[in-house]
Amino acid sequence: KIVVLDFGSQYNQLITRRIREFGVYSELHPHTVTAEDIRAMNAGGVIFSGGPNSVYDSNAFSVDPEIFEMGLPILGICYGMQLMALKLDGRVERSSNREYGKAEVTVTEENHLFGNLPSEQIVWMSHGDLVTAAPPGFQTVATSAGCPVAAMADESRRFYGVQFHPEVRHSAYGNELLRQFVFDVCGMENNWSMESFIEMEMEKIREQVGDRKVLCALSGGVDSSVVAVLIHKAIGDQLTCMFVDHGLLRKNEAESVMKTFADGFNMNVIKIDAHDRFLSKLRGVSDPETKRKIIGNEFIYVFDDEALKLEGMDFLAQGTLYTDIIESGTTTAQTIKSHHNVGGLPEEMQFKLIEPLNTLFKDEVRKLGSELGIPDEIVWRQPFPGPGLAIRIMGEVTDEKLEIVRESDAILREEVKKAGLDRDIWQYFTVLPDIRSVGVMGDARTYDYAIGIRAVTSIDGMTSDWARIPWDVLEKISVRLVNEVPNINRVLYDVTSKPPATIEWE
Ligand code: XMP
Repeated sequence: KIVVLDFGSQYNQLITRRIREFGVYSELHPHTVTAEDIRAMNAGGVIFSGGPNSVYDSNAFSVDPEIFEMGLPILGICYGMQLMALKLDGRVERSSNREYGKAEVTVTEENHLFGNLPSEQIVWMSHGDLVTAAPPGFQTVATSAGCPVAAMADESRRFYGVQFHPEVRHSAYGNELLRQFVFDVCGMENNWSMESFIEMEMEKIREQVGDRKVLCALSGGVDSSVVAVLIHKAIGDQLTCMFVDHGLLRKNEAESVMKTFADGFNMNVIKIDAHDRFLSKLRGVSDPETKRKIIGNEFIYVFDDEALKLEGMDFLAQGTLYTDIIESGTTTAQTIKSHHNVGGLPEEMQFKLIEPLNTLFKDEVRKLGSELGIPDEIVWRQPFPGPGLAIRIMGEVTDEKLEIVRESDAILREEVKKAGLDRDIWQYFTVLPDIRSVGVMGDARTYDYAIGIRAVTSIDGMTSDWARIPWDVLEKISVRLVNEVPNINRVLYDVTSKPPATIEWE
């Protein structure tokens, strides 16, 4: 097993999961575990994750120094490398220019971590401080324009450090580098599989629920669909699905959800039309976090109200993913956004929660969905946030603005599909910034809204790049948006990666 110590990076769980994909079991643990704990876990190697802090912060996360004496291979990533450098008497400096996003590293010395990988590599950086001198016993094995020590190695002790993030997909050889560490350096064998995940989860659900009843928040997205089908498989009609139409859904979405689950899967699905309730709560509110919290809370209130009308529902099942938990700050990672269904839960909530997907990432959920026999059109549906179109409208949510994002989103989706790009682009939607600008239509001056197009490529939503939609497709979309959507006179294209931006605008 490979033990990953958590120093608070957004990406820490990605490390364990990459390693599990190799067929090697891996676990994430708090940075406070001791050398003794690690010995008891029978670890074959240790990885220090990245983290948002500086090693010089007064409350910086540290590590049990004994861990360096155990004879186990250690890989430090970003903060993990800086911590390693500091603890082993190297030099770490605060840097005035932070480095984010793509960078190129050059491997300068042969070493086991890089093995036979190309000597020039595109990697994903996200750091402030940097190591300026490797500790005694270490060699600098890679450099980049921004980092004199982009990677370091002490081959005799099997200690390695990289300033970039090999666990994110945008590091071109990141996966191979982790493989090198796991197999070549730590000598692990690939004998672990996730095949039994479904059986294990079904068993867990049956045990937890017994003969009681579960209510499931069904949204029609991949996550809640997979949860519903998984639980339905485990406990059948003890499951009731409630589909709250909060009025913030995409065009025709409500109808299609009912058709798929009530008719297709033969589940108990109750549809609640709560448009007015949500919109009145959102009136006058423009702060993104407040909007998210209001929608998350209202969601549960509607549930409470409607569940009271049902007989004895004990559990609430939700399609919370690991990404939602990380980004809501429930782990050591910093809060970026309080995700719907996590940060938004009111304290007086009456249900016990079942969240069978909360260790999984989006692509793992898709895999699970296919194995459960859920049709492709749902499994491959693009992600849609719980708070819906409300977080794609900057500022106050009104029916007029909802109409604009709903219609523009429908046009965008239609054109992307027509161009055959719907499987290549991970997520694409329109956003309505709270700005108006001057235009001219039919010789008359207009003063209307600008609409933004956001289209990204990603694997797991943790990092993303902006999608290169061909210009002629963009042109068609732009012409249609301005002509067919009322109150739009300008079209923008968002060309920012994540980080530093996020996928959604709020
Ligand atoms: P961000 O904007 O954080 O989004 O880069 C990452 C992915 O998560 C989706 N997202 C959400 N999904 N509840 C959800 O179920 C939410 O509150 C939420 N906010 C963002 C987003 O659409 C993207 O796919």
